[in-house]
Amino acid sequence: MDNIVLIGFMGCGKTTVGIRLSYALQRSFLDTDRQIEREQGKEIAQIFAEEGEAAFRGLETEMIAKMAEKERGRIISTGGGLPVKQENRVLLKKLGTVVYLKTTPETVYERVKDDTKRPLLQCGEPLRRIRELMAERESAYMAAADVVVSTDGKEPAEIVEEIEERIK
Ligand code: S3P
Repeated sequence: MDNIVLIGFMGCGKTTVGIRLSYALQRSFLDTDRQIEREQGKEIAQIFAEEGEAAFRGLETEMIAKMAEKERGRIISTGGGLPVKQENRVLLKKLGTVVYLKTTPETVYERVKDDTKRPLLQCGEPLRRIRELMAERESAYMAAADVVVSTDGKEPAEIVEEIEERIK
């Protein structure tokens, strides 16, 4: 059975929706960031601070390559920057059915504004940064996606139902 892979910007709901989807479909849930943290014994913010973003991106590619080899039938949520690399988009296709949770910069900002665990948004003007990054990444998300689900104004339960419907 194929994995179902959730992609999208930070704060788009990949983890919340992924966990609910895993209950609904009785499949186990995995998250690329949490797996990287477990293997490295460090939080993402610490990896960025000590080793830099490029090192983190390398770990992401290794993680998704490994998952594409061994995981089946799971719900997998991914870091917001993962689809940016072409190499990773190829691996995402191999990993399973890719669902892009599409949201707006304003919604993301509301969700992440008090969060200190996302190193890319620890800056003076986070909303502006979110707008820029999202615009830069949109084509990568679209290229990686098999299914696009818009999440704005929807409850997680609704999003889960929509995903179930769309991947049948
Ligand atoms: C990142 C998103 C984060 C995490 C890292 C970088 C990004 O994951 O991988 O902080 O580049 O958008 P979430 O999307 O789960 O926040």
